[in-house]
Amino acid sequence: MAWDPNLYSAFAKPRLRPALDLVARIETLSAGLVADLGCGTGSISALLADRWPDARIFGIDTSPDMLAKADRASPVTWVQADITAWTPPGPADVLFSNAALHWVDDHAGLFPRLMGMLAPGGWLAVQMPRNYHAPSHTAIIDAARSGPWRDLLEPLLRPEPVAPPAFYYDLLAPIAAALDIWETEYLHVLDGEDAVMRWTGSTALRPLSEALADHPAWKDDFLEEYRRRLAAAYPRLPDGRTLFPFRRLFLIARRGLRPD
Ligand SMILES: C[S@@+](CC[C@H](N)C(=O)[O-])C[C@H]1O[C@@H](n2cnc3c(N)ncnc32)[C@H](O)[C@@H]1O
Repeated sequence: MAWDPNLYSAFAKPRLRPALDLVARIETLSAGLVADLGCGTGSISALLADRWPDARIFGIDTSPDMLAKADRASPVTWVQADITAWTPPGPADVLFSNAALHWVDDHAGLFPRLMGMLAPGGWLAVQMPRNYHAPSHTAIIDAARSGPWRDLLEPLLRPEPVAPPAFYYDLLAPIAAALDIWETEYLHVLDGEDAVMRWTGSTALRPLSEALADHPAWKDDFLEEYRRRLAAAYPRLPDGRTLFPFRRLFLIARRGLRPD
């Protein structure tokens, strides 16, 4: 899908917190090669460059619009490429990915492949949203199925792109020397009208609203269906704010020190 960096950055502060929580759990002090997979506008890649100033850092993303916002003066090498096709120029000490791998299918193939790109002792650190059972996401599916746009939208639905934690444990435990998997539910406090819709509007909702670009009346009705469901699920507080609980899955896997 076409990403809009300005829309995505509207909630930069609450979106930063999980990335900071993930970086904090990577214990290695030195790294020679680091990659940020699905780096977007590169704001998190810059944190990785601060954390490992001597490393070669690569920021990988398919979106030219997101990469266009990346800081050209930073030490990060920006690469427009697909995570499923890109390989690092050598064994990686840290492969990092914040809020991106849920856009990639076939995790059963992807995660072992990423582990295989690590240097001995290297770290794979991943955060993915797992809010798919919450109204923010189920209401997208319900609204998509609730009108004449159903046939257009149904093929685009991805009801659960991230599996439960045990799936990643079963996948990685046999090939990782150390594995740490956890979930955190953040309570975001959002300002303004239709706050949850503005949040999902730059991510999960976007491929569907884009698909209705040639049917403006359907698009308005579909978005209204979604808005109505969200208003019931996430009422605004008397002070105008909206509470938005959001669950995320974190995973840190370390490759063994001895070559396989
Ligand atoms: C939600 S944004 C997160 C950006 C950044 N990691 C951050 O935390 O600010 C997801 C990013 O993943 C990128 N992306 C999605 N699928 C990708 C793929 N297969 N290969 C490379 N990048 C991908 C998108 O273009 C988008 O910039």
